[in-house]
Amino acid sequence: MSATPLMIVVLAAGKGTRMKSDLPKVLHAVGGRSMLGHVLDLASASQAEKVAVVVGPAQDNVTQSALTIAPNVEVFVQENQLGTADALKAANKAIAAHSGDVIVLYADTPLIEPATIDRLRASLDAGASVAVLGFEAVDPTGYGRLLTDSTGKLIAIREHKDASEVERAIRLCNSGVMAFRVTDLVGVLARIGNANAKGEYYLTDAVEIIRTDGGDAAVVTCAEAEVLGVNSRVELAQAEAIFQRRRRRRAMEDGATLIAPETVWFSYDTVIGRDVVVQPNVYFGLGVRVEDGVEILANCHFEKAHIGKYARVGPFARLRPGASLGANVHIGNFVEVKNTEVGEGAKANHLAYLGDGSVGANANIGAGTIFCNYDGFFKHRTNVGAGAFVGSNSSLVAPVTIGDGAYIGSGSVITKDVASGSLALERATQEERPGWAAKFAIMMRKRKAAASKR
Ligand code: UD1
Ligand code: MG
Repeated sequence: MSATPLMIVVLAAGKGTRMKSDLPKVLHAVGGRSMLGHVLDLASASQAEKVAVVVGPAQDNVTQSALTIAPNVEVFVQENQLGTADALKAANKAIAAHSGDVIVLYADTPLIEPATIDRLRASLDAGASVAVLGFEAVDPTGYGRLLTDSTGKLIAIREHKDASEVERAIRLCNSGVMAFRVTDLVGVLARIGNANAKGEYYLTDAVEIIRTDGGDAAVVTCAEAEVLGVNSRVELAQAEAIFQRRRRRRAMEDGATLIAPETVWFSYDTVIGRDVVVQPNVYFGLGVRVEDGVEILANCHFEKAHIGKYARVGPFARLRPGASLGANVHIGNFVEVKNTEVGEGAKANHLAYLGDGSVGANANIGAGTIFCNYDGFFKHRTNVGAGAFVGSNSSLVAPVTIGDGAYIGSGSVITKDVASGSLALERATQEERPGWAAKFAIMMRKRKAAASKR
């Protein structure tokens, strides 16, 4: 890692018209994290000392979001969108106050890896005054082309609209990421003009200016997928697909088995332990932590939940925010858990709703058990003690506490607390009439015969 102090400027001032959205483009999410969030995470992973974000006018939600993710960022407003150099100029005050490297990132390019930023900085350490992140485009249309000499040194960047036919045949393109180590970057930006096809101030023109001043320009390359820029919902889905491929691979490299990786969906903050087995069609929403040795059977949905060691969950289980499963817990099919702590070794194997409560260690929750947590106005808690047995099809009407080792007869509607070790039953006593069925059948056959004669 380079020893030179680093400042990162994130350009986020796009309108993102092609998203057809009320939300600014850079706040759209990939892997549950806004694209802006991904880029700010990259800045922090790259140990930037200073981070500036350039937003458009009337983009208070972008400013708010940036400050929430990284409270130390400085936000600058670019009043009119006159081009990428003009956008960077909006942060002139911060750039002038910084001595060291400056890296420019686009907030709509969320997939760049910290190692790539390190390679750009290594290129500056090796003597370049400007290093540009390039890639071989399958279809270079629209991108700025990197013009290099016979030794591979960067001479200039030519925007597509300004390029000649020969230049357009070049497939080495500008990703937009540029790293600068010049004493007066503000001065360089001031010299960039707008005499080009778009009439914009192009940041890419900095390359020729720096070279005129005797500086060296270098190209660092990466895969096209890493620098995918998002301008539409279709590209957003492409970015998501790339993100998911990476996260699946990382989970497997970290020791989890994904039987059908392409059907498992992660969030940016999913934590998965070793020897976890994930069957097909599992969705990890935000804030899920899975400890070692857990088995997740097919078709589950999780969000803000914790799954303890060696637990078994699913198939078809739903863990909602605040579900916390201890070690060796079993949560089976069609069981929903919300805001409930389930103690070590407890089981709820079939068809249950456990909401706003707690289940003690080794308790058994029978099929069809419901924690009736809501009275239409307030939520209340249900606490089931350690080793308790809740018979099938019981409704526990909160607030209610079932003591340790208590036993609830199936089909009960429990509205009062049950002491430890007690049996609680709430249903009519069973009645039995021996021989009744045969007598009933004789009577009914007679009635039927009489009716058919009429
Ligand atoms: C830019 C590069 C091009 C590169 C391509 C990669 C320039 C001149 N061209 O072209 O070489 O191949 O990205 O995708 O830099 N922005 C502002 N304010 C502005 C203009 C742009 O904040 O006034 C932001 C945009 O929100 C966007 C980024 O800068 O995030 C790039 O701008 P855009 O207009 O998309 O540039 P391209 O034409 O794609
Ligand atoms: Mg663009």
